Amino acid sequence: MRIECIPGDIRAVKSDMIVVSLFEGAKRLDGATGEVDAAVGGALSEAINAGDFKGKASETYFFRPSKGIAAPRVLVVGLGRKEKFTPDIARQVALPVFKAARRMKLSSVASIVHGVWIDGFSPETAACFSALGAALSSFEYDRFKEDKGHRVSRFLFVERDAKTLPLVRAGVIRGERMGEAINWGRELVATPSAHLRPNDLAKAAKKVGAGLPLREASKIRVRVLGVPELEASGAGGILAVGKGSQAPPRLIAAEYRGGPPGGKWVALVGKGVTFDTGGISLKKPEGMDKMKYDMAGAAAVLATLRACAALGIRRNIAAVVPAVENMPSGTAFRPGDVLRLMSGKTAEILSTDAEGRLILADALTYAREKYKPEAMVDVATLTGACTVALGSVNMGIMGNDGALIARIKQASASSGEKAWELPLHEEYSEQIRSDIADLKNTGGPEAGTITAGCFLKEFAEGTPWAHFDIAGTAWIDKEKRGYAPGPSGAPVRLLVEFLSNPTVGDHYG
Ligand code: BES
Ligand code: ZN
Ligand code: ZN
Repeated sequence: MRIECIPGDIRAVKSDMIVVSLFEGAKRLDGATGEVDAAVGGALSEAINAGDFKGKASETYFFRPSKGIAAPRVLVVGLGRKEKFTPDIARQVALPVFKAARRMKLSSVASIVHGVWIDGFSPETAACFSALGAALSSFEYDRFKEDKGHRVSRFLFVERDAKTLPLVRAGVIRGERMGEAINWGRELVATPSAHLRPNDLAKAAKKVGAGLPLREASKIRVRVLGVPELEASGAGGILAVGKGSQAPPRLIAAEYRGGPPGGKWVALVGKGVTFDTGGISLKKPEGMDKMKYDMAGAAAVLATLRACAALGIRRNIAAVVPAVENMPSGTAFRPGDVLRLMSGKTAEILSTDAEGRLILADALTYAREKYKPEAMVDVATLTGACTVALGSVNMGIMGNDGALIARIKQASASSGEKAWELPLHEEYSEQIRSDIADLKNTGGPEAGTITAGCFLKEFAEGTPWAHFDIAGTAWIDKEKRGYAPGPSGAPVRLLVEFLSNPTVGDHYG
């Protein structure tokens, strides 16, 4: 789908449907919505006064205008109450718009930028979120379907004020590029595990810059370590978890050199378990199919790198992905085994299903030694306990550096991707002390998300580090908060916002 920005009056745009929006309880219809209402002789305000349409967030009202509008269809979408408006609402309302356009098999839709006239948010921000919503709503995983369903081919944002047009245009481009990169990652997450084993993930990573302008794509380099290199570097966690599978493990390192030569790196580490059966500590069958998304962290950090390249962000970013398939077999690692991880620390295995922290430990060590980053952020579908604690609303965040966490919280607020900090107090680390090794890989039934975080913290050493547990947010089961069911793309928007902020590096640099 092409997303564009054009100047002009939406009443005169000849697309298959125009979209305007309205706040709940608005006394007066202003802006383009008011103009559309006037053009159709007040039909819209009549519908509102009669109570047909209230303007609740994501509520829609459809009509065919008899006059005054060049397009044959008008859709009004509610933005909820004005006091509660955030730019993320502009993203969320795109989904009902798309569902309507698909249902009616429309090929072009023209929309105003939602919330562009609201105080406190720039037109660029409003445009970015509106375009992001359009891009994300257009995602559909239909690779294995004969009937592909209808696709909208063109989405236009119409801005009538020549003064704000350049800002709106810049915002639309940013939102579109970000959405495209996020969808690239969502496609990987949706792919069945038989079609995406560790080496397939490595091949996909090699194409992380595909389709970007050469200027940006040429700043990307991807290296892939196979088993011999993993052995040479002592990646005991990745090798052990990968041992049970016919498909050998990989360590993927994608680099984007957007910053000055010799400038500092930020390392992003993403859990890439292409399928998690639990290994010998086998999971129960119900819901195991979902474990194809156990590489959502990997997809997120690669998609973040793609987005940063597409946006030309001036920063050196490395995305490091340990890719394994966690299978039970005669060659699998066992509960009771003791592994020596890349950092030299040893871990006693109590459950082979707590595999994420083992491969991430090696990847964090690799990232730290190879890039000497000013900050490291890992993203992982790490614990079911995180879903119990925070549901699908918030990601769990943890870390060893207050300033880094503060910046992540800022990026969370401005991106609209919710994240909630959990404490990594020393007391919790006692739960992962082992009698026969330096650490054990599970901390018992209490505070499972935190003890997993404590395990990872051991491998950050002195580097400022943050951890995202996205077990509850990477896959949205039902349609919620502007997400279609399926891979959400979390937390790419937050990370791009974080990496766009020029002060992230200043603090550490
Ligand atoms: N991949 C799972 C975590 C997970 C569960 C992600 C549900 C998404 C949805 C992880 O490898 C795992 O199995 N964790 C165990 C840890 C336990 C054995 C300490 C868990 O959460 O039960
Ligand atoms: Zn597991
Ligand atoms: Zn897992």
